[in-house]
Amino acid sequence: MYVSDKIVLNNGFLTFPNIPKNTIIIITRHSTWLPAAHHHELTFPLLPVTMTIQTRITELLNIEHPIVMGGMTGVGTVELAAAVSNAGGLGMFAAHNACSPEGCRQWIRQMKRLVNDKPFGVNLTILPTMGTPPPYHEYAQVIIDEGVKVVETAGSNPKVFIQAFKKAGIITIHKCVTIRHALSAQRMGVDIIS
Ligand SMILES: Cc1cc2nc3c(=O)[nH]c(=O)nc-3n(C[C@H](O)[C@H](O)[C@H](O)COP(=O)(O)O)c2cc1C
Repeated sequence: MYVSDKIVLNNGFLTFPNIPKNTIIIITRHSTWLPAAHHHELTFPLLPVTMTIQTRITELLNIEHPIVMGGMTGVGTVELAAAVSNAGGLGMFAAHNACSPEGCRQWIRQMKRLVNDKPFGVNLTILPTMGTPPPYHEYAQVIIDEGVKVVETAGSNPKVFIQAFKKAGIITIHKCVTIRHALSAQRMGVDIIS
């Protein structure tokens, strides 16, 4: 990322002339301060920098940045998920946002078209319901049939789903709000706790 070759010290504040607002500024330890002609002005060369953070998450999910999108009712759509994946994170839409297992299938296919080979996930929220629950098992089958590589479960005990996903070679994430649930998910063989 090339930022600027000039930085100005102005009444004790650093200012960066000629760069657009909201630009990320990275000063590397390779930068060298060079006094300029004007005593309020210091210049130094900034090197082009690319910054990557590698973690077990980036390795396991094969993503560029350790950023995983949370499944979100309503806003967790294909478009947002594709934007996250294309930016190097793990985009993830919530299966139920597609309204039906068949809708979920279409979203998975759309997602593949939007991100090419970039990794993405599907969130399967399995909340208990008062009335008839959504067809969670049908959603899970679609996820398996369509070759999704990463699934996040949330909202309830995911044991049967985790077993099915693991059998299909899918990387599993389970969202936990207590240590007890996290330990239980670990015993089930879940790969990642979120
Ligand atoms: C608007 C909204 C809707 C959400 N819906 C779901 C959902 O349907 N399923 C789910 O597993 N998590 C859902 N979440 C939880 C997020 O995925 C995430 O776990 C939570 O926001 C905590 O992450 P944060 O600390 O980065 O916000 C939702 C969060 C928000 C803000």
